[in-house]
Amino acid sequence: MIADMVLVNAKVYMNKGIIDCSVAIDGGKIFKVGRETNMPKSDARFDLKNLLVLPGLIDAHVHLRDEGKAYKEDFYSGTAAAAAGGITTVLDMPNNNPVTMSVETLRNRIGIAEGKVLVNVGFYSEFPRDKSEIQGIVGEGAVGFKLYMAEQVGGLDIHSDQAIIEAFKVAGSLGVLTATHAEDEQTLKRNEDKFKNIGRNDINAFLKAHSEDVEVKAIERLLKLAKQTDMHLHFCHVSTEAGMKTIIEAKKSGLPVTCEATPHHLFLSAGDLKRVGSLAVTMPPLRDKRDVDGLWEAVKNGWADVLGSDHAPHTLKEKEAESVWEVKVGIPGLETTLPLLLTEVRRGRISIGDVVRLMSENPSEIFKLKNKGRLKEGNDADLTVVDLNRKYRVDASKFHSKAKFSPFEGREVEGKPVKTIVAGQLVMDDDEIVAKAGSGRIIRRE
Ligand code: DOR
Ligand code: ZN
Ligand code: ZN
Repeated sequence: MIADMVLVNAKVYMNKGIIDCSVAIDGGKIFKVGRETNMPKSDARFDLKNLLVLPGLIDAHVHLRDEGKAYKEDFYSGTAAAAAGGITTVLDMPNNNPVTMSVETLRNRIGIAEGKVLVNVGFYSEFPRDKSEIQGIVGEGAVGFKLYMAEQVGGLDIHSDQAIIEAFKVAGSLGVLTATHAEDEQTLKRNEDKFKNIGRNDINAFLKAHSEDVEVKAIERLLKLAKQTDMHLHFCHVSTEAGMKTIIEAKKSGLPVTCEATPHHLFLSAGDLKRVGSLAVTMPPLRDKRDVDGLWEAVKNGWADVLGSDHAPHTLKEKEAESVWEVKVGIPGLETTLPLLLTEVRRGRISIGDVVRLMSENPSEIFKLKNKGRLKEGNDADLTVVDLNRKYRVDASKFHSKAKFSPFEGREVEGKPVKTIVAGQLVMDDDEIVAKAGSGRIIRRE
């Protein structure tokens, strides 16, 4: 037989170790892993010269925008950024214009994405107004629901415990999880108003408004509600040590709960805001050193289940607004997440196995992404090839994302994604996008 692609002289992460071997790919799947002499022939034969091959990385928290927010990012630029960052699958957030919260908005969004994406893309939906529509949205292929608690975004009344319980029950019965941004709207609004009334519009006021309490309150409330259902609740971007502790307790009590940490909460702290300024303003905000340490503990101990970039692109103008309350919150992260993590692997803070667990194995399990998460015969040929010896400085002007800024600008990193293969197709080769728009696949929950 002639295989679609053969990679030789690779170091492959599989079965929790690194082995020297070759990989044959055919029909978008991993056909064979083994000795070079056992590989089928192929016209596309790459000598990887001992580069490390990881199961394709999955970023379960990405705002791809497009539609009414295409000026910030679109499906092409966002998935090009993913490929450039070594990410083969992204899950897209629903706070779009229009908000993804119905069969129609989801179907339309998928239709637009189909012709543009370069990597695999799955979609979250916000809950609809009418809970009888939840099933239809799941039938349309949503990978999960997103519940934004910091302000009303979707159709579910965030002030009604009863409505949340009912929605959770339906999602639970369908075996679908809800990912949540846990900041308590009422407490946050009260804090914000207090500062606005005395004319404060500086970053410190923003930090104080988004107090630890704002996060913990929302986490506690959601846990209490989820407990009355059997739905899997997934906490996005846990940012405080206290919030993480609350989630750990819930996990210990046996609740079906998982959580995410983001690179910006792990690699930056509130102190960096002084240096970086409003570009690093995000929600939840950067926290104190104590919180950062607490999050690292949770990452290392396995309490944090996944790492997600929370890639949230905006224009520079939006990031540089005078008043902090006008600054658009969020940080582009697709092109810095893996290099930052690999740098810590080089330094010995985490292992390559941790990176694979947090960004491939666990997300594939949590979001039930079939045939992903592990490099093995028969699985999808989604592969991230990295060079652990490449040292360079983050240069946001070279991002494929439309958002050409980064709070990590100028930071020296060690370890770089050099090839991204999606369903057997080479998409990124040495920073260059080499696949056609639309070559990525839409992931629909089955
Ligand atoms: O920083 C953030 N950016 N937090 C959010 O909750 C939303 C996100 C965005 O969409 O920009
Ligand atoms: Zn969020
Ligand atoms: Zn987000």
